[in-house]
Amino acid sequence: MMKLTPKRLGWLKFTLHVLCFSPIAYLVYLVLTDSAGGDPVQYLIHFTGMGGLNTLVATLLVSPLAKWLKMGALLQTRRLLGLYVFAYACLHIGAFISLDLLFEWTLLFEEVIKRPYILLGASGFIILCLLAVTSFKQVKTAMGKRWLSLHRSIYLLALLVPIHFYWSVKSEIIEPSIYVAIFAGLLWLRKKQIKQILLRR
Ligand code: HEM
Repeated sequence: MMKLTPKRLGWLKFTLHVLCFSPIAYLVYLVLTDSAGGDPVQYLIHFTGMGGLNTLVATLLVSPLAKWLKMGALLQTRRLLGLYVFAYACLHIGAFISLDLLFEWTLLFEEVIKRPYILLGASGFIILCLLAVTSFKQVKTAMGKRWLSLHRSIYLLALLVPIHFYWSVKSEIIEPSIYVAIFAGLLWLRKKQIKQILLRR
C-alpha cells in the first residue's frame, strides 16, 4: 500500500482545492458570459446547492476511505472539504436571499411557510456555521472533548441536507433518491457512533 507522506498529502490537498474550486470559477464564467441558462437565478441556486451536496458526500467519504485504505493521514483532508461545503452553502443561500428574495426579509418568512424544506436547509446551515467557526486548531484544542461531540452533528447535517434536496425537487425523483441512498449508506457506516450518541442522551 502506498504511504501518504506529508509531500503526497500536500499534493492531494492541492488537487482537492482545484477540484472543489474550479466549479465556482466556472460558475462565475457562466454568469459573466450570460450563459447561465434561461433562468440564471434558479441556475445559481441549483448549481451551488449541488456543489454543497457533492462536497458533503466527499467529506463523509474520507473517514471510511481512511479506514479501508489504512491511511490515517487522509483524515487531514476533512477540514478542507468541510469548509468547501460551507462555502457552497454560503453561495447558495446568498443567491437565494439576494437574487431570488431581493433582500426582502418578510418574504423569507412567507417562503418558509410556503416551502418548509427551507427550514431544513436553514437548520443545516446553522450546523455548518458552528462547524466552520470551530474548525480552527486553537478552537479545537480549547474545546477538548466537546469538539468531537459538536462535530458529530455532521451526522445530523447528513440527514437534513438530502431531505432538503429531495423535498425541493418538483418533478425528478431518481437523482434525489440516489442521493438519499448514498447518505443513508454513509450514515449506516457510522451506525456504531450514532448508536452511542443516541444511547447517551
Ligand atoms: C438557509 C439555508 C438554505 C436555504 C434558504 C435554501 C434554499 C433553497 C432553495 C430556495 C432551493 C431551490 C428550490 C427550487 O428549485 O425552487 C434549494 C434547493 C437546494 N438546496 Fe438549499 N437552502 C439552504 C441550505 C442548503 C444547504 C446547507 C445545502 C447543502 C449543503 C443545500 C442544498 C440544496 C440542494 C442540493 C438543492 C436542490 C437544487 C436544485 O435541484 O435546484 N441547501 N435550497
